[in-house]
Amino acid sequence: MLRPRRLRSNANIRRMVRENHLSVDDFIYPIFVEEGENIKTEIPSMPGIFRYSIDRLGEELKEVQSLGIPSIMLFGIPLHKDAEGSSSWSKEGIIQQASRYIKKEFPSLYLVADVCFCEYTDHGHCGVLVNNEVDNDLTLTNLEKQTVSLVEAGVDMIAPSGMMDGTIATLRDALDLGGYSQIPLMAYSVKYSSAFYGPFRDAADSTPSFGDRKTYQMDPANRIEALKEAALDAEEGADILMVKPALAYLDIIRDLKELHDLPIAAYNVSGEYAMVKAAAEKGWIDGEKVMMEKLLSMKRAGADIILSYFAKEVARVLS
Ligand code: PBG
Repeated sequence: MLRPRRLRSNANIRRMVRENHLSVDDFIYPIFVEEGENIKTEIPSMPGIFRYSIDRLGEELKEVQSLGIPSIMLFGIPLHKDAEGSSSWSKEGIIQQASRYIKKEFPSLYLVADVCFCEYTDHGHCGVLVNNEVDNDLTLTNLEKQTVSLVEAGVDMIAPSGMMDGTIATLRDALDLGGYSQIPLMAYSVKYSSAFYGPFRDAADSTPSFGDRKTYQMDPANRIEALKEAALDAEEGADILMVKPALAYLDIIRDLKELHDLPIAAYNVSGEYAMVKAAAEKGWIDGEKVMMEKLLSMKRAGADIILSYFAKEVARVLS
């Protein structure tokens, strides 16, 4: 008889035939930075995740560094919001200030910046509005300004998340012309219009004041369209392709891995984090085991990089 169970008979043989592993090297840890002083506020729907002002950020970064996590991604919560989101490209913007601080105090952390406008606009949409609709090409012009300003402040990698057409080509040109040809672009290639972002929008004050994001983020029903989005980004010069959210879209991660010779990133988003935390708090699941299992599923699907609020916990489990 053919007996696959032979290779499962004890822990050592299981270790020897294990096909996928999580490593601390896989992770990017997202961090929320808020304008102001002496702020460390826990996000109610994301237990263990905080908004920090720059003067309190050091405690968090020390921990990230000592756990061996190679990289962080910054999200900004500005004091000033306006129609265009102009504080996102100000030299004194919250992420610009945070980046200068981090590059000085924690030079070994690899610094990724999410580039978008929803946290900076008073209407909460991801770009410039014309007749209550996000105008693609006007938004691209502002994306260039934000990107160059962030890189000038020391950001190592740019991750545009707004789902505007032509973003990667536009930003690649802007970076190259600005003398930043070495800065990689991690494209949020396949970003679905997802209910899994709920806790993030509370955390970052970025819920749209009217309507939704369905005219720019993708329909969860679509796969062929996801392949097209990723192919365009690859053609336009993306260095890394991302799928977001991760857990409900493992099929798309697998597709991209098979079709492209680029690293694939998976964004394990706020709602995916909150679900595990809530069920674990109720005692209904073993939170740590479920965390490890679902992150491993992203690796198995083909992710090379995982953006996750669990990064610190995973690093602790692995060490
Ligand atoms: C947009 C952005 C969002 C997330 C990352 N970048 C939210 C959105 O599109 O509403 C969500 C991340 C998460 O849910 O963890 N700037």
